[in-house]
Amino acid sequence: IPVEEFDLVIFGGTGDLARRKILPGLFRRYRSGQMPEGARIIGAARSDMSADEYRQMIAEAVAEFGGEESADKDGLDGFLRNLDYVPIDAKGTGGWDALAAKVRQDVVQAFYFSVAPSLFGDLAERLHTNRIANSESRIVVEKPFGRDLESARALNGTLAEHFDESQIYRIDHYLGKETVQNLMAVRFGNVLFEPLWNNHYLDHIQITVAETVGVGGRGAYYDKSGAMRDMVQNHLMQLLCLIAMEPPSKFGADAVRDEKLKVIRALEPVDSHHIVRGQYDESSDGPSYREDVENPRSFTESFIAMRCHISNWRWAGVPFYLRTGKRMKGRSSEIAVVFKDLGHSIFEGDEARHRNILAIRLQPNEGMDLQVTIKEPGPGGMRLVDVPLDMTFADALGDHEIEEADAYERLIMDVIRGNQTLFMRGDEVEAAWQWTDPLIAGWEARNDVPKHYEAGSAGPEDAMMLMHRDGRRWREIK
Ligand code: BG6
Repeated sequence: IPVEEFDLVIFGGTGDLARRKILPGLFRRYRSGQMPEGARIIGAARSDMSADEYRQMIAEAVAEFGGEESADKDGLDGFLRNLDYVPIDAKGTGGWDALAAKVRQDVVQAFYFSVAPSLFGDLAERLHTNRIANSESRIVVEKPFGRDLESARALNGTLAEHFDESQIYRIDHYLGKETVQNLMAVRFGNVLFEPLWNNHYLDHIQITVAETVGVGGRGAYYDKSGAMRDMVQNHLMQLLCLIAMEPPSKFGADAVRDEKLKVIRALEPVDSHHIVRGQYDESSDGPSYREDVENPRSFTESFIAMRCHISNWRWAGVPFYLRTGKRMKGRSSEIAVVFKDLGHSIFEGDEARHRNILAIRLQPNEGMDLQVTIKEPGPGGMRLVDVPLDMTFADALGDHEIEEADAYERLIMDVIRGNQTLFMRGDEVEAAWQWTDPLIAGWEARNDVPKHYEAGSAGPEDAMMLMHRDGRRWREIK
């Protein structure tokens, strides 16, 4: 279904994110027929180039990052006709008149701030003084949204001077992932799970986001952030919220975000014994973390594992184990909801030791499987085995029905539709930093040294111990 006609201005339109994600994503939406005739995308950046040169740049970006679909030359030509470019001086006056002349007032307007947060204020102000933005315009901002509570508050304050919260779309691209949205469908669209979704039936939850890539190329940014700021404060926190939140009264932006906020506010501070930070060593296929970031004395973590608790009736006593890291054994992200053992088993010995696990796979191979215990087929007597009830979406629905849509393109279409449900509200981001800040301050004050781990492994040994001490273990990273 096509969205309404729109003008989308991408500040930072020549940057990495625009070329890798935003424009190839928009091209796919164009090909799927979702971009209406007359929709326009206007790149705006410092470089002095013509609209034709910009189209050329984007054609190359789509060819490089757009996947198979970029082979469609006619489609690409059609898409490029919707593109325009304005050289702009974010801190000065250059280019603003030209932009004002191009952006229409009678269609949906969206302004994507794909620039350093230090420019947010300048852009927001100039959009108003040049009478480009209006009270209906939407603005899209990216992480990092601050690096602590104070800086996040300052950014929220800057944006609030010019835009109402209902106009601000803070992207966390994890919320655009298919499985993440499906999590809400599964929890709240079935009678099956919700009655069991509490401390009576669940033993613990594990959230793993493992990556095989290192930080090469982004060292300067990453070394100042680390896994906690780069991944936990935002992506893992959002996953945790969707798993743990109470059912919202409806699937609407504020109803959902109110419930997520309650989860973040109910998170207990994490004791230092329940946090393991790690840094990867060099290996045959790559340099060490310290070499990657060119800082031989770095104490920044490229891996973190922790045990969290949510202080409310539903989750009292159910630990949430989170872990994420770079240069790990596999690229595998999943949430495992591990059910309790049976209170009493009618079976004996090993046959009594089976448990249910709902594994929600974000990537690769998006889907869910529910581990259930059945009798091993055959004449061998009553022997029990665990088998997955597999709900791999591609198998269940047929490949053709799952559109190749990346998180970004889904979220951008939501911006045009004016649906904020999958975007973070200002108070959510601040609450997340409020929980994160003391943990970081804690290890800084202790001069905590990250544990080493072998690149290509499942992380430092201490992360295994974090679970073993509790009589549990991490699921294997495949
Ligand atoms: C980004 C982080 O937000 O998410 C990166 O800054 C990380 O460090 C990336 O690699 C992971 O995203 P995805 O979609 O590949 O899991």
